[in-house]
Amino acid sequence: MLKKSLAFFILGLMLICSCSKTNEQPKPAEPKPAPKSSEHSITDVTAYIMGFSQCTFEDPWRMNMNKEMEAAAHAHRGVRLIISNGDNRNAKQVADIENYLVMGVQVLIVSPREAAPLTPAVEKAYDSGIPVIVLDRKIGSDKYSVFIGASNLEIGREAGKYMVQKLGGKGNIVEIEGILGATPTQERSSGFHEVVDKEPGIKVVYKQPGDYKRSPARQVMENALSAHDKIDAVYAHNDEMMIGAYLAAKAAGREKNMVFVGIDGQKEAVNMIRQGILSATFVYPNGAKEAIDLALKILRGEQVDKQIQLSTTRVTKDEAKDYVGF
Ligand code: FRU
Repeated sequence: MLKKSLAFFILGLMLICSCSKTNEQPKPAEPKPAPKSSEHSITDVTAYIMGFSQCTFEDPWRMNMNKEMEAAAHAHRGVRLIISNGDNRNAKQVADIENYLVMGVQVLIVSPREAAPLTPAVEKAYDSGIPVIVLDRKIGSDKYSVFIGASNLEIGREAGKYMVQKLGGKGNIVEIEGILGATPTQERSSGFHEVVDKEPGIKVVYKQPGDYKRSPARQVMENALSAHDKIDAVYAHNDEMMIGAYLAAKAAGREKNMVFVGIDGQKEAVNMIRQGILSATFVYPNGAKEAIDLALKILRGEQVDKQIQLSTTRVTKDEAKDYVGF
């Protein structure tokens, strides 16, 4: 028992060092000191240390995901969650994952920035024998324990159908994509095109990435507005970019009667939908609570499905009456 306590104490020290080195936000709670008495059971300190490699802390969706995961972890006695910030850089996120392996976390949860650059690090973690839970964005391999996420293909299709209906089958669309190497970007685009490309009256006249961020998306929209006199709608791969595009259209005095469709269900976007400024968003659940619950099941030796699909819902002015967002 003394040996185990000592091991956890050392692990605790390693965690503090690692976090202060990278200056991660939010910082994990101080580790509990090793029990003085040898009679304490292992659950009196930390039973499970889970490392969550988050790709970025930059936007409201990610911050909300972190908050919900921390709340889910705190609901279980003995679970200790560390969250690292990939800073929206693949190399930083790979280093974070490798760091978790050195620390000896019992579970790795990862929401990868892009699929290809993150795949080897995730495979390495899986091959080392720890459970690996992949969230929201996929990797390019099946070396993981569970994938949790909503169907982005389905969201893309639903966004396409809504757009066709809103435009009455006729109009010019600007598509603002997310990070190109991230799987939701690819799926949100292909689902959308499956539907709108069949419509002879509808044309996607401009398509550029805005990296899931507001100000690059605003810039993309400014360029689109200068290139095209007639723009009837914007399909943005997330709400931050939808808001960025709206601000550009408004600054150019061209936002009236323009249809704006986004994804996520962010509070600010939902408020604007409620006021009739924007048209629709699709709620994109983050899977944080499911990740903690499934990690515990795996650690307890229970069988779990390899694919967990989360549901999504459309929010237009009608649904925005009751829907708040994050
Ligand atoms: C946040 C985000 C969300 C989006 C998800 C896609 O970083 O861009 O807005 O739905 O990632 O992976």
